[in-house]
Amino acid sequence: MSGPPIPDVCDAVLLDADTISARVAELGREIVHDHPGEELRLITVLRGGLFFLADLVRAIDAPLTIDFLAVSPYTPGRGGVVRVTKDLDDDIEGATVILVEDVVDTGLTVNYVLSLLRARSPGRLEVCALLDKSVRRIADVPVAYRGFRVPDRFLVGYGLDLAGKYRNLPYIATMNDEALGV
Ligand code: PRP
Repeated sequence: MSGPPIPDVCDAVLLDADTISARVAELGREIVHDHPGEELRLITVLRGGLFFLADLVRAIDAPLTIDFLAVSPYTPGRGGVVRVTKDLDDDIEGATVILVEDVVDTGLTVNYVLSLLRARSPGRLEVCALLDKSVRRIADVPVAYRGFRVPDRFLVGYGLDLAGKYRNLPYIATMNDEALGV
């Protein structure tokens, strides 16, 4: 594999850059195929989703705009409350919206964001997730476009972080137990 060496905190590359890139290209083609003549609004949740969004939009040969939301992370035991810390800049009423996520894990974040977006009456609202960690799902969320199903491991790279670091790795890797203090 080309590219930077794997950091010590990782034990293996789960998805290399070429594999991710090929799948992102396929997802882009699927999205174009499914939305003939529609202008798309792609929205992601900061911060991790922006890496996938940036590559995905370049794989979509159709008119589109992008927008961003930021939410406080879901904290277990707090009743699923997630707070918006940065709202969308644009109105989505009547728009064809695709919510782009790097990973759907428990599903609580997407579930919350979908309910928030639905209340603004988009014309169409779908989810595109690069990674689906479905084994950890608590809230059932509709994932229309899925890059990869992944195991229940702590992952870093391509937007995924450990305490804010490793998002810039061009691949997705599993963390080793030592780094996680397990
Ligand atoms: C990650 C990811 C999703 C969420 C998924 O964000 O980007 O938004 O977790 O988890 P869930 O399905 O269990 O709700 P995170 O809170 O790590 O913030 P980040 O995007 O800034 O890394």
